[in-house]
Amino acid sequence: MNQDALKQAVARAALAYVVEGKIVGVGTGSTARLFIEALAEMKNRISGAVASSEDTRQRLEGHGIKVFDLNEVSELAVYIDGADEINAELHMIKGGGGALTREKIVAAVAKKFVCIVDESKLVPVLGNFPLPLEIIPMARAHVTRELTKIGGAPVLREGFVTDNGNLILDVNGLQILDPVDLETRLNQITGVVSNGLFACRPADVCLLGTSDGVRTLNAC
Ligand code: A5P
Repeated sequence: MNQDALKQAVARAALAYVVEGKIVGVGTGSTARLFIEALAEMKNRISGAVASSEDTRQRLEGHGIKVFDLNEVSELAVYIDGADEINAELHMIKGGGGALTREKIVAAVAKKFVCIVDESKLVPVLGNFPLPLEIIPMARAHVTRELTKIGGAPVLREGFVTDNGNLILDVNGLQILDPVDLETRLNQITGVVSNGLFACRPADVCLLGTSDGVRTLNAC
């Protein structure tokens, strides 16, 4: 099975976590896009969705799915999204698509976070994938210096502006042995809007696409 087929399989498997009659939180990226296509098949059985990016909002609306502003929603049963890396504790690196801040906000509201990934994303230690940080533009040089002090090698994502009008730094060279600690410390750097570590609020379930089928992982 190729990677796309594995993503397709987990995207379809995630439908089992969608609560009928409720609003579902929807992530961003290629796996989330496949989930949106699957979700369209049951659009008459949900109230609507909350989108984690403008791209996702447009795709949902393109399928005739009502998109709610998160501020109109008092609770969200489930949030379904991909990841760039995930470990056995279901800590993740996210933000390869640059939507990390809105993804983190939607995930914070959701009762359950279901992460959908192919098996290439499961790693023993996070950090091989460059860690994205969303930053306020005027803080770019300051944040770059602070990241260098802790051993990171940040690179500005050229030509990219987030849905919130900010920049992304992709940080190489971090071997993330304590994701909760690093997520917390990075949030203390002035000018950082959010970072792509999802460890303080990890996934609750990971649907892992493998050549032997979809495996369900719970945090160990
Ligand atoms: C988007 O900003 C990301 O957090 C995505 O969830 C992540 O990059 C995974 O994307 P793919 O499903 O395209 O691998």
